[in-house]
Amino acid sequence: MSAAEELREGSPTEAPAVEARTTPGSARLIPVFVMGKRYEVPETLTIMKAMEYAGFKFIRGCGCRGGICGACATVYRKAGDYRLRVGLACQTVVEPGMYLTQIPFYPANRAAFDLSELSAKPEEIFKLYPELFRCIACNLCTKACPMDVEMMDVMSALKQGDIAKAASLSFSCIQCGLCASRCMGELPQYHIAQLARRIYGSRIVPRATHLVEAAAANRESRYDRYLKELMKADEEELRREYQEREIEPDMAGEDWVPKDTRYL
Ligand code: SF4
Ligand code: SF4
Ligand code: FES
Repeated sequence: MSAAEELREGSPTEAPAVEARTTPGSARLIPVFVMGKRYEVPETLTIMKAMEYAGFKFIRGCGCRGGICGACATVYRKAGDYRLRVGLACQTVVEPGMYLTQIPFYPANRAAFDLSELSAKPEEIFKLYPELFRCIACNLCTKACPMDVEMMDVMSALKQGDIAKAASLSFSCIQCGLCASRCMGELPQYHIAQLARRIYGSRIVPRATHLVEAAAANRESRYDRYLKELMKADEEELRREYQEREIEPDMAGEDWVPKDTRYL
């Protein structure tokens, strides 16, 4: 059997010989497997683009394409490597002999709650997610995370009742669910951490008074006059308005106001 045939028939644990092909005038093509079928794709592509190159169309499991929305969780194996790897399809670049599959949604229990009825006590989280205490600190969730969230430390902080620390540590979470896919304690870590952030944001952080004032001004239609003027403006005026806009300087003090106060 030729190396190419081996690759076509092989499984990732059989470590088939991986051949890459170069086509004149185009990128180097490498073999990958999607749902078990072999395709040749340019080696420079992300998993998402490689799948599209292979003819797949993303109706779900694709959003921002920039590593932010968490919609494109992917499971893969590399040729000859038994490890099940995870990543974001829009960020991970293909490798020769990769075996790929998409996780359109990772099922994880999500507790029902009314945020307005919750206090800032950690017991609220313990009641809604008692499985938190099944965490055995194996750290697999942290290793799976494409955003480098130290999810095991988030769970540890919550077990110790530190909602603020858990909220801060999990700030970069994009809710892709990959951490939950690896948890032998069957914790829905990303839902638990999101609850901590919601409690932190709504109950613990001091209220931003300037935001309250801006929201009130909006409700009173104070910006309507300017918005109407903008809607009447032609493209050239809009460009000029945009280019000449006054930008709040970095590290501006609390009392900074723009020179043009007509619309405040
Ligand atoms: S994978 Fe599960 S059990 Fe392991 S540290 Fe993370 S939350 Fe805990
Ligand atoms: S913490 Fe979990 S859900 Fe959040 S980005 Fe990392 S793997 Fe995804
Ligand atoms: S498509 Fe949004 S994170 Fe990949």
